[in-house]
Amino acid sequence: MRSDPLANAAVPVPEEPSAPGGLPRHVAIIMDGNGRWANRRGLPRTLGHRKGIEAVRRVVRHAGERRIEVLTLFAFSRENWNRPKAEVNELMSLLRRFIRSDLEDLIANNVQIQVIGGRDDIDKDIVGLIEEAEARTRLNDGLRLVLAFNYGGRDELARAARKLAFAVAAGQIAPEAVNEDTLAAYLDTAALPDPDLVIRTSGEQRISNFLLWQSAYAEYAFPATLWPDFGAAHLDEALADYATRQRRFGAVPVTIAKP
Ligand code: IPE
Ligand code: IPE
Ligand code: MG
Repeated sequence: MRSDPLANAAVPVPEEPSAPGGLPRHVAIIMDGNGRWANRRGLPRTLGHRKGIEAVRRVVRHAGERRIEVLTLFAFSRENWNRPKAEVNELMSLLRRFIRSDLEDLIANNVQIQVIGGRDDIDKDIVGLIEEAEARTRLNDGLRLVLAFNYGGRDELARAARKLAFAVAAGQIAPEAVNEDTLAAYLDTAALPDPDLVIRTSGEQRISNFLLWQSAYAEYAFPATLWPDFGAAHLDEALADYATRQRRFGAVPVTIAKP
């Protein structure tokens, strides 16, 4: 027997996917504006990048204190290879220096490090440092710090599709079994929850090939602050704003039923 559709009004409404006042599990940041920060001071762009490392330290510390589960930082995009060679070298060296100088501190603070992005075209010594950082922090269970380095969303999807194609060709997966979950399992972020909040500093409002698949339902924030000036208060502001958003994931927003 079909029930009266109006009777649905009495059915308890499903819980809202993300309750107002909620804290994002995963915050991802496009750290932009280092060059402009330096330009405004008449300094070389590379100094802006160096200054940006201090913001990284502030934000990592604060995200841990705020009990954010995952913090992803976009540090170098595949498209950033198109910059002048000296700037590319500086950005490469910055990752080297950051791991060398901060790894012990991060270990002491129970941070787990993961690096996403292609590894084939970066210097072998950097790959070695990345592997060391990941191995030595693997068992930590505090903040998960994900560095997107030599990362591009389309590249990540293409690499995942290639691995999946090999698995299908080898008979490990039936072609008809390929779905969203199988593809996601081949992404660099397979073990991570999707970002809830994506912040891009410097006022630019674009995603520049960052976490394309994973950000399908992310909330966005575009603070005008240049990355080297970004700190705890700016992160708190973005978190407070996030808490006011109503996430719907395509469903009908929850309303309180009138008597
Ligand atoms: C972000 O700052 C850092 C990286 C892209 C590595 P930019 O270097 O893009 O700074 P702007 O956008 O030129 O100011
Ligand atoms: C995005 O910033 C990449 C990183 C922050 C690492 P860009 O400055 O490279 O992006 P576009 O070129 O302005 O889109
Ligand atoms: Mg930029």
